[in-house]
Amino acid sequence: MRRTHETISKAPIINAEFTVTRKRALTGIKPTGIPHVANYIGAIRPALALTEEYDSFYFIADYHALTVIKDPAELRSLTYEVAAAWLAMGLDPQKSTIYRQSDLPETFELNWLLSCVTPKGQMNRAHAYKAAVADAEAQGKTDVDAGINMGLYGYPVLMAADILLFSSDVVPVGKDQSQHVEATRDIAQKFNGTYGPVLKVPELLLSPTAASIAGSDGRKMSKSYGNTLPLFAESAPLHKLIRRYVTDSSGPHDPKDPETSGLFQIYREIADPADTRLVHKALSAGEMTWGELKETVFETLDAFLAEPRERYRELMADKSKINRILVEGADKARPDAIELLARVREAVGRVEIRS
Ligand code: TRP
Repeated sequence: MRRTHETISKAPIINAEFTVTRKRALTGIKPTGIPHVANYIGAIRPALALTEEYDSFYFIADYHALTVIKDPAELRSLTYEVAAAWLAMGLDPQKSTIYRQSDLPETFELNWLLSCVTPKGQMNRAHAYKAAVADAEAQGKTDVDAGINMGLYGYPVLMAADILLFSSDVVPVGKDQSQHVEATRDIAQKFNGTYGPVLKVPELLLSPTAASIAGSDGRKMSKSYGNTLPLFAESAPLHKLIRRYVTDSSGPHDPKDPETSGLFQIYREIADPADTRLVHKALSAGEMTWGELKETVFETLDAFLAEPRERYRELMADKSKINRILVEGADKARPDAIELLARVREAVGRVEIRS
């Protein structure tokens, strides 16, 4: 079953010349881990599907990653890996815009201007910060802010700057990011309430599958559980990881419930619907063993990933090509950012002393 985002409004905007202006979708990708199959199904594929309907912006949120990544070599390699992953999975720089957050200095000036209208209390209530505080409390720390940097605390403001800089109409994200988009809306409204209607208040476009893909141990597939299927693993390690999936104890000829199987969830997302129905039926009727399911899933996934794996390998062997794509994307995006920032600067009362 292929599910895409819940669409808030599909109507294109028709301007006075009767040319169709597409709405803009923008999403950020934090380079904190190499993408896995659940990232693809839950985030990459639905986000890329939006290029059909929206003027789409994708960016590598490298400065957001700095709240957790302190090793420069790691940030460098993750920036390449994540950009290469999205490109390999089908992001077309001709049909959309891909850039690196840190190539747009306007983002960071807007971040400051927004932080001056953002209530501190709202940041106190942000999930990531609250989770870090709860962690410290659980460890019995007396200073619950110990180890929490200002980057983590102000993370939602930087995200608002990313979004508002491009007057995005919609922001496609998984459920874990919906609070951040709500914060962006609040911050935009706060700014507009103070200075007049300068910022476009974006809509949240919730990606529905994000949380539901299980990893090899049955828990949600996540880098932190070490239970993932990396998107660009070679065939042999991929095979091994799939064989390692836990299954229930039903015997070879017992009826099995496909809905409880993580591997079936994955299969359903990548196989064609007729094959999915056959496998569903065979499992339910006790005519397919878990071992056979594993082989089927491996073959399907391996074939599906063969070309992307090749493209990924080529890109990673030519990092200057990745650089070029990101720089060209930033060059393409930047005029809009400069224009928006000029309006924001003027709105807050900055005097343009050079003009
Ligand atoms: N916070 C997002 C994440 O962790 C990444 C992100 C940064 C983002 N800026 C954004 C997403 C702007 C959407 C819009 O996944």
